[in-house]
This record gives sequence, structure tokens and C-alpha cells, in this order.
Amino acid sequence: MTPPSRTPLGLADNYGRVATDLRVSLTDRCNLRCTYCMPEEGLDWLAKPELLTDDEIVRLVSVAVNQLGVDEIRFTGGEPLLRRGLVDIVTRTTQLRPRPQVSLTTNGIGLARQAEALRDAGLDRVNVSLDTVRQDTFQEITRRDRLKDVLAGLAAAHEAGLAPVKVNAVLMRGLNDDQAPELLQFCLDHGYELRFIEQMPLDAQHGWSRDQMVTADEILDMLCDRFGLAATDAATRGSAPAESFTVHGGPATVGIIASVTRPFCGDCDRVRLTADGQVRDCLFARTESDLRTALRAGADDEELADRWRRAMRGKLPGHGINDPSFLQPVRPMSAIGG
Ligand code: 5AD
Ligand code: SF4
Repeated sequence: MTPPSRTPLGLADNYGRVATDLRVSLTDRCNLRCTYCMPEEGLDWLAKPELLTDDEIVRLVSVAVNQLGVDEIRFTGGEPLLRRGLVDIVTRTTQLRPRPQVSLTTNGIGLARQAEALRDAGLDRVNVSLDTVRQDTFQEITRRDRLKDVLAGLAAAHEAGLAPVKVNAVLMRGLNDDQAPELLQFCLDHGYELRFIEQMPLDAQHGWSRDQMVTADEILDMLCDRFGLAATDAATRGSAPAESFTVHGGPATVGIIASVTRPFCGDCDRVRLTADGQVRDCLFARTESDLRTALRAGADDEELADRWRRAMRGKLPGHGINDPSFLQPVRPMSAIGG
């Protein structure tokens, strides 16, 4: 067997991009029902035998880190805090060498209970989804009365030193599109870093429409004067999707992720693994590559790495949301992971 190479052949595609940031969905289930993501009644969840086990997840993550040059792992869902083995998965991931950066995208429910254990497991950062600080709006958007739990989760993450605590917000017309300033003020007051994400066509109900979408320009207009926003050096954006603005001269910043109106596909360094072991080269991919079958058939690390490399080559240059022929992916956001 050849020893693992020091400069591994990475996850390159035909357009010269190399994926080094792996998003791993740990479950497709969630305890909220955000209207931009799921229908009220939920979805048909993946069956248990289809889900990767904790060991299988750690195995694939280790292939990505050891063989494919991945240096950043983000655990997502659905809601990743619902996965019982989460702390153990994080512990084993941060023990890999070279040690990847490890973060979590969560709705924050249950984070109050788990933040310290996750930090002790080596978790570096969290992104918490929060679209409003009003109880009635929270109930309208998520169809659950859990705002208090999310706020407690945020506070616990901050206290545990999972810094910087980032907040992801989606604005929806007629629901919370008038609340951008108060959300930003809340985050500034608490030391959280807020990023607005343009709503993308990823909801299971296929309810997205362009004219309903609150655009990055609109959001900037709402915040610019009151918060004295100034664009930070565009050169620092790199492959980070958020355009960053200082608030009142800094150091606080606010980010805007304009996935639809200012796509950043040309700089994309992401690859995704679903909870049932399928590689997705893009959020909007219409095809997936199965790693689970090979894994369960006893494939060695080299073979898995090889399959993974092949899966990435056909990555399309862009998501195509703005093309008339755009078709939404079959899997909704909750089954892909952010
Ligand atoms: N458009 C934009 N963002 C979305 N998210 C979930 N669904 C959508 C959508 N349709 C966000 C969540 C979470 C992150 C993973 O993506 O709020 O913060
Ligand atoms: Fe759950 Fe996140 Fe979807 Fe909301 S956006 S329903 S928190 S998976």
C-alpha cells in the first residue's frame, strides 16, 4: 500500500476549483419547520439503515482530510444537534491530522445544553440560524415557539468561547423584511456576527419566487445609513461567500451572502456529503455520487478517495438559478445541509 501523500491530490473540478471545505449533513430531521425550508407537516425522513453510522461518517471525513486535502469540516443537518453521536463525531474529527477546522450550523435549540461539551470536543465555531428576535415572527417563520431556546443556545455558545458566534438570517417579504435593523442591533449588542443570506430556491414545497426574494441591495439600503456600513476590502472575500461590511467603522461587521443576485460559484471551495452518504458537488446539484455502497462493500481509503475525486470533476461552473431553464434540486435544503 502506498503511504498517504503529504500533498494529496485534491477535489479538483474541470474549472480549476479545488474543494477544501466539506459540509457533512448528520441528519435530515429538524425540530423547526422554517417556511423557506420545510412544509408544516415535515418530510419523509431517511430511514435509519440508509443513514451513515457515526463510524462511517468519521471514516469518510478522515478520507477527506487524509487523502483529499480537505481542511475545514462543517456539520449541518437538518438539525445536527439532534444526532446523538454528535459530540463523539466532533471529538474524533478534531483528532485527525492535519487537524481540520470544525464548525457546526445549527438552529440553536439544545445548544445551551451541549455548547460546553462541544467546545471540549474541540469544536471551533458555530453558525446559528436566527431570522427574528420577535416571538410572534419566530413562530410564524419556524412554526414553533422556541425563540427562547435559540437565544439561550446563542448565549451558551458565546460563553463557551465558540467564537465568533455567527448568526445566519433569511429575510422573507411580509414576514421579517422590516426587521433587518433590529436583528443587526441585537447581534451587535451581544457580540454575534450577523450574516444575511438571500433566500434560495431550496424549499421542499418549491414555493420560492424571485419577486418574493429580498435582495442584497435592499438589505444594504435598509442598514447603510443607520449603521454607517463600509465595504471591507473585497480582496479579503476569497472563497468566503459573505461580502463583509464594517459597522460604524468597525471592528464589528455584518455580512451579506448574495447567492442569487451576486453568485460566487467561480470561487466555490465546497463539497457536501449527505446523511445517507452521497457526495454533492453543489447545493444545487441534480446528481449525486454514492459513497455509501462502496464504503459498505469494504472499499479501502484509496478507492473511496478515488471515487470522491471522480465525483467532483463534473461540477458545473455555476448554480444556474438565473437561467430560465433552472430546475430546483430534488433534495430540499434540510436533506443537503447548508
Ligand atoms: N435560502 C437561504 N438560506 C436557507 N437556509 C435554509 N433554507 C434556505 C433557503 N431556502 C439557511 C438556514 C441556515 C443555513 C444552513 O441555510 O437558515 O442558516
Ligand atoms: Fe430546520 Fe434549518 Fe430547515 Fe429551519 S432551515 S426547518 S432550522 S433545517
